[in-house]
Amino acid sequence: MAVPSLDDLLRRPDAVRGKRVFVRADLNVPLQDGVVGDETRIRATLPTLRRLLDAGARVVVASHLGRPKGKVDPKASLAPVAKRLGVRLGQPVAFASDCIGDAAEAAVAALGDGELLLLENLRFHAEEEKNDPRFAAALAQFADVYVNDAFGTAHRAHASTVGMVAHVPDVAAGDLLRSELEHLRRVLEPERPFLCLLGGAKVSDKLSVVTVMAERADVLCIGGAMAYTFLHAKGQPIGASRVEADQLDVAQRVLAAAESSGHRLLLPIDHVIAETLEAGVASRVVREIPDGWMGLDIGPETAAAYAAEAKQARTIFWNGPMGVFEIAAFAAGTEAVAHAVAESDAHSVVGGGDSLAAVNALGLGARITHLSTGGGASLEFVEGRTLPGVAALEEHAAAHGHGEQETR
Ligand code: 3PG
Repeated sequence: MAVPSLDDLLRRPDAVRGKRVFVRADLNVPLQDGVVGDETRIRATLPTLRRLLDAGARVVVASHLGRPKGKVDPKASLAPVAKRLGVRLGQPVAFASDCIGDAAEAAVAALGDGELLLLENLRFHAEEEKNDPRFAAALAQFADVYVNDAFGTAHRAHASTVGMVAHVPDVAAGDLLRSELEHLRRVLEPERPFLCLLGGAKVSDKLSVVTVMAERADVLCIGGAMAYTFLHAKGQPIGASRVEADQLDVAQRVLAAAESSGHRLLLPIDHVIAETLEAGVASRVVREIPDGWMGLDIGPETAAAYAAEAKQARTIFWNGPMGVFEIAAFAAGTEAVAHAVAESDAHSVVGGGDSLAAVNALGLGARITHLSTGGGASLEFVEGRTLPGVAALEEHAAAHGHGEQETR
């Protein structure tokens, strides 16, 4: 289904100049004591904001931050993000202390052409996540045009991503949203061999993507703590490694599905183990985990095997660390995989906060084809699920008939 892009929108200067363009961004960045940590998501949405400002729009930006559960929580205020956004844009960013009501209305009314305002955290209102129609209509009052650039939140059917869209006459997909969808579409319809690397702590978090990828990927390599639930399901000794007992039947089903589809599912063949999970503890590499010890990273043979798969692949999707990479002794597996993905000639996409942090810490970001700003959203997209935020734009374009380019 066709959705207008920012290019389409800007081809009609009158659609933007002097108009209130409401941009739903995902500025859900880490904050520590009121200071922005990793600012990838701020930087990622700058091109969309810059182009709108240069076209003379009055830009109203809205986002959530954290999960304040419908209550005002000063620790989840977007005020520090407004400051950082101003620095990165190189121009003042106004800030409204609420996203609806008098404060927001006054701030929007005060905007001049080419000026930008950030509204306070949408999730200070429970109605945002409930996709409440009245809240959606209140947000839409600030929008002559609606631009969705919040790929990281496109899997949420909330008032600012779905409910308000139908109220606005003109909509477009922002540059970040479009670029994410373009890169991830190449994972959904991969050039083969297609390698999927999945890590992280819990099978339960990755349940649906593991199930889908066991059948869709030519090779699925599993690492992280969740590998031990799979190894246990196969009857292999895992010592005191973390196991999700309630996921064993799921793991068995996934193993069976991979086998019957003829695709390969690789599990660690060696491990970095320790008796406790803490920095500085004694660790060693083994093929078989003894009682009382736990696997905390994939071992070097496993890392080499996974790297060899990356070399063969034409498409790679990686989400989740291979071990407890925050502790140096258990970081080598994740680092080896990051290097292998960076060195491969494949179309490579890395998603998820931890994998991105590993790639960035190693300075490998520029060598990955695409770093996704959406963890959950990228997983849902590559599973083939419809993202409600994208569907809302498509439905709007279908109803209003001015879409021009395919978004998926
Ligand atoms: C994310 O960080 O994945 C997005 O901003 C969505 O946040 P959420 O999982 O709290 O909805």
